[in-house]
Amino acid sequence: MTTGRVFIATSLDGYVARKDHSLDWLMKQPQGPDDTGYEAFVETIDGLVMGRGSYETVKGFGTWPYTKPVVVLSKTLSQSDVPAELQDKVRTVDLSPKAAMDMLHAEGWTKAYVDGGRLVQSFMREGLIEELVITTIPILIGQGISLFGELPQDIDLELVSSKVLNENMVQSHYRVER
Ligand SMILES: NC(=O)c1ccc[n+]([C@@H]2O[C@H](COP(=O)([O-])OP(=O)(O)OC[C@H]3O[C@@H](n4cnc5c(N)ncnc54)[C@H](OP(=O)(O)O)[C@@H]3O)[C@@H](O)[C@H]2O)c1
Repeated sequence: MTTGRVFIATSLDGYVARKDHSLDWLMKQPQGPDDTGYEAFVETIDGLVMGRGSYETVKGFGTWPYTKPVVVLSKTLSQSDVPAELQDKVRTVDLSPKAAMDMLHAEGWTKAYVDGGRLVQSFMREGLIEELVITTIPILIGQGISLFGELPQDIDLELVSSKVLNENMVQSHYRVER
């Protein structure tokens, strides 16, 4: 089975982006010397599964930041919507989270980096996330797109580790209990 991993930053009040998808609050944080562990995390995954919202945001950066293959889950985008320069890097699929993970398992993926807001929520609801690394940024933005949402039942997590980064952020690594 392919398992989902999350590596994400949230505001202290639990948002991954403002309602208009802007990340200014995140981008303005001073870069410190501490290693966030992002590069090491990316080494462990076979590729990324992201929601259309996150794909649109990243595409807007101008420079494609990922070296690993990206699968975009969307009912509205098709492969022909992907720009020519990203055709060999991005694949769009219209599949449920479970069906997407089954497809990736058949392709030999063992670990998928699941990225987004609503997409992470739906993977959590379906029990497809095994580990989360959440970096909490010391800012309240009041409203936005939440990392977590409604659930049919509680999900217990085990805290694997927690550390302070650059004297202001807290990074916590959780494992979802089965
Ligand atoms: N703070 C951080 O570290 C961080 C990290 C990643 C992303 N972000 C930001 O967080 C925001 C997340 O926004 P979002 O929640 O709208 O984006 P999202 O989760 O990336 O994308 C949601 C979209 O994905 C598609 N989708 C397909 N299957 C889905 C499913 N099972 N469940 C949910 N969505 C599914 C839908 O688009 P269709 O209508 O096309 O089907 C849906 O509108 C973005 O602005 C992103 O840039 C922040």
